[in-house]
Amino acid sequence: MDITKFFNSILNEKKVQDFLKELKSYHKETYEHSLRVGFLSMLLGVKNNFSKENIKLLGYAGLLHDIGKLDISKEILNKKFKLTKAERKKIEEHSEKGFERLKNFKEIKEIVLRHHKYQINNYPKNCKANKKFCKLIQIVAIADMYDALSNDRSYKKAFDKKEVEKILKENFTGEKIYIEQVVGIGKDYEDNSNS
Ligand SMILES: [Fe+2]
Ligand SMILES: [Fe+2]
Repeated sequence: MDITKFFNSILNEKKVQDFLKELKSYHKETYEHSLRVGFLSMLLGVKNNFSKENIKLLGYAGLLHDIGKLDISKEILNKKFKLTKAERKKIEEHSEKGFERLKNFKEIKEIVLRHHKYQINNYPKNCKANKKFCKLIQIVAIADMYDALSNDRSYKKAFDKKEVEKILKENFTGEKIYIEQVVGIGKDYEDNSNS
């Protein structure tokens, strides 16, 4: 399977483009993060021998996981210092806002709603686990955490690879195998871009 081609075909679908165009102009950092999370989620799907249909779902969910950030003020998204409790609460609403924005996409929205459920400080608190998509949710979650830690964000600098792995081990509450896999893919990717 040519995963880059598969990823691009999803990325270029109108329904995805409509959301991502808006995100790109609203908050470029989140847009770029979303592209990486979409691609990384699909790579993890391939690594786990998921069906083509599920890999596709990982692409959609990864690309759109933070679409609810469109409903969060830029002041909060761009804040350089530690967020207050109230600001943290606001930003955490992005999972539910994303769910609402994706209400016509019955499978994608279930994953997006839960993409912060597999971390120590998980949210939204009142949403039930989803057995059917449990693995897919964990994969988007690990791809998201890995990317957020490995890159500069408005609120923090990128961590080095050792540190990323350590933080994932302390904070990711899903299957531990996914940590190993995401770190491995990250390393392969770096080796390729350095050679
Ligand atoms: Fe998020
Ligand atoms: Fe994210």
